[in-house]
Amino acid sequence: MTTTTSMLTKAKAAITDKVQATVPVDRQVRAAHLVKKAQRFAGLSTPLVFTEQPIPDPADVPLTEIDVSNPFMNRQGKWYPYFARLREEAPIHYLADSPFGPFWSITRYADIQAVDSNPDVFSAEPYIVLGPPPLEIEMFIAMDPPKHDVQRKAVQGVVAPRNLKEMESLIRERVQEVLDGLPTDEPFDWVQAVSKEITGRMLATLLDFPYEQRHKLTYWSDTISGTAEGTGGTTHQDEMFAAAEELARSFVALWHDKAARRAAGEPDGFDLITLMQTSEDTKDLIHKPMEFLGNLTLLIVGGNDTTRNSMSGGVYALNQYPDQFEKLKADPSLIPNMVSEIIRWQTPLAYMRRVAKKDVHFGGQFIRKGDQVIMWYASGNRDERKFEDADRLIIDRKNARNHMSFGFGVHRCMGNRLAEMQLRILWEELLERFDRIEVVGEPEYVQSNFVKGYDSMMVRLTPKA
Ligand code: HEM
Repeated sequence: MTTTTSMLTKAKAAITDKVQATVPVDRQVRAAHLVKKAQRFAGLSTPLVFTEQPIPDPADVPLTEIDVSNPFMNRQGKWYPYFARLREEAPIHYLADSPFGPFWSITRYADIQAVDSNPDVFSAEPYIVLGPPPLEIEMFIAMDPPKHDVQRKAVQGVVAPRNLKEMESLIRERVQEVLDGLPTDEPFDWVQAVSKEITGRMLATLLDFPYEQRHKLTYWSDTISGTAEGTGGTTHQDEMFAAAEELARSFVALWHDKAARRAAGEPDGFDLITLMQTSEDTKDLIHKPMEFLGNLTLLIVGGNDTTRNSMSGGVYALNQYPDQFEKLKADPSLIPNMVSEIIRWQTPLAYMRRVAKKDVHFGGQFIRKGDQVIMWYASGNRDERKFEDADRLIIDRKNARNHMSFGFGVHRCMGNRLAEMQLRILWEELLERFDRIEVVGEPEYVQSNFVKGYDSMMVRLTPKA
């Protein structure tokens, strides 16, 4: 019986590999879409839809019913009070029923660190958000060692210090262009005009993607990571598949175009595609299309709304704590530390998900094999046991760099230095130009239980005298 099963599994894997290698990746995405549509048509699956309701105060909800996966928590300003209660009363908390199934919430800094540092017990496979994404793309953020390590090693050169140095002046030029084009003394949407624009330009640089089409990168990334099924977002499945198909087609074309230009004698750049084409481990990745798609998607999704929301979050936080902006103007050498503090305060990704590989006693609870375990970085970053006066933004906070927004262990964010560099450049250039950066009105927040971010934020700039 076991032999037959294992033979069948091997045969299935061989067929999958063959299909993956021969069928163009956009067609594979389209096929997955058709399967989903057929399932919907046959009544086998119903897309999730979330409707916003007022969320009660945490003290009014029984502990066992607390559901921090509600995608409106951030928008209604309720996440932090709920996390504070969980950290105090049930730091390893079990919710038996939610739209994403049952899950454990880990909310204290030290416990999150312990889970994230133990991939032997807590697996990142097969996905790292609360619900199954409608399209499962192979990404190393959702793989365990040793496969994870091989794939990460293959692409991490793109953000190696030498490459970042090469990129710095280009990124600065692009930031300067954006800031010099902003209106002054009249309100505009900071998210669209600055955060999205700069991040899009950086992604285009990183991938050597056609510059005039850079807005597609942010659109694809937002659409793919914003499904209701995965994160409680607003993207409909059909929209997500259409975006993934277009992304797949464009990246395959980009790969071939780049190969042709290099063959014609164009010197190698420091972009991701060149690095992949010149590295032994990845030069044939185009023949493993789903893996190719996964690695590229991970870079654009990983680098997109995280950095963008730190750019918006910093401005918002400095408006909440104006004394800190004065402190910054008096001493711009605080910028690097402030960048870490902004990333702590904002926590652009609220959590990562793990699955227990075996039964385990953890923090006084019994977690069973197969249980979902959610590491709430957004809560760990406000844990008073680690950060004094944790809700405040304090730009010269001594241990700001110990924040957990980049995770820990084997999956620790690969783009952390790049993100910090972009934020540092942004703040250096802002201080050169503006005396006041004023948030006018409450921002609009993203509907998601994963991305802790801003849909729009009106800002007025006052130039330096
Ligand atoms: C992984 C956050 C910027 C690429 C991660 C993880 C987090 C994270 C929480 C998972 C950590 C874990 O599971 O322990 C952030 C934040 C950013 C940011 C808060 C900005 C402030 C970027 C940028 C890039 C990027 C700019 C692109 C170059 C990645 C990749 C991974 C990752 C490739 C997977 C690493 C692995 O699994 O080994 N990031 N990220 N990130 N991030 Fe970022």
